[in-house]
Amino acid sequence: MIIRKSPAELQKMRRSGLLVYQVLKNLGEMATEGVTTMDLENAAIKMIADAGARPAFKGYFSAASGTRYPYALCTSVNDQIVHGMPSTRIQLKKGDVISIDTGVQLEGYYGDSAITVGIGEINNSLRKLLQVTQDSLEMAIDKVREGNRLFDICSTVQKHVESNGFSIVREFVGHGIGTNLHEGPQVPNYVDRNNENPRLKEGMVLAIEPMVNFGKAASKVLSDKWTAVSQDGSISAHFEHCVAVTKDGPWVLTRP
Ligand code: MF3
Ligand code: CO
Repeated sequence: MIIRKSPAELQKMRRSGLLVYQVLKNLGEMATEGVTTMDLENAAIKMIADAGARPAFKGYFSAASGTRYPYALCTSVNDQIVHGMPSTRIQLKKGDVISIDTGVQLEGYYGDSAITVGIGEINNSLRKLLQVTQDSLEMAIDKVREGNRLFDICSTVQKHVESNGFSIVREFVGHGIGTNLHEGPQVPNYVDRNNENPRLKEGMVLAIEPMVNFGKAASKVLSDKWTAVSQDGSISAHFEHCVAVTKDGPWVLTRP
């Protein structure tokens, strides 16, 4: 089921979205050599609380892991794809690549977004990985229009990523979002003919989140039940935005 949102509801989601944007912007600037991922977590907890919101991921139960996620952030470093857990023992160093993913709930409505940044100088091939992943998201955002179908989004991401020689992670997907962090439809980053392909309609809100490996696509989840890593140890990138379908085209709720 896909729950469409009224203009008044979209305004509430906009507030959540802008808070997530501000938090990620600050964390992206803070993510430098020597900072631990737990430093980022602590800063996020404070910013979210100061805004009168709730960290959406903290306490989130996933059937796949059978546990509640303990943190406000997912901080996925290097070969970690998504759901890396903040730790006082993970100190960022030059050349690392970190995906910072967070969500908030404000007045009942969720926002969810992710960025990937390099620490100091990163090599050209990693810069390209980040750029291609981000561009694939931007190209997909442009497909979030009435009359298009879900597969237009999926295929746009897939074509751009694969034509540049990188791999789409299959096991994790984007999602609808609203008064739940995860709602229908699932938004894979590839065309899955077994999946539903609904027409996009005004008021739908999609969290689009390409997860892209430098090497092979295969992933595995570590014994902590959450951290997803690439099987071949290759570096992974992840960007995410929440996008509403409006009469005037795509509205990216998670940036100004
Ligand atoms: N952006 C991810 C998602 O939407 C992060 C979820 S972490 C969790 O699925 F803990 F909330 F599951
Ligand atoms: Co998400």
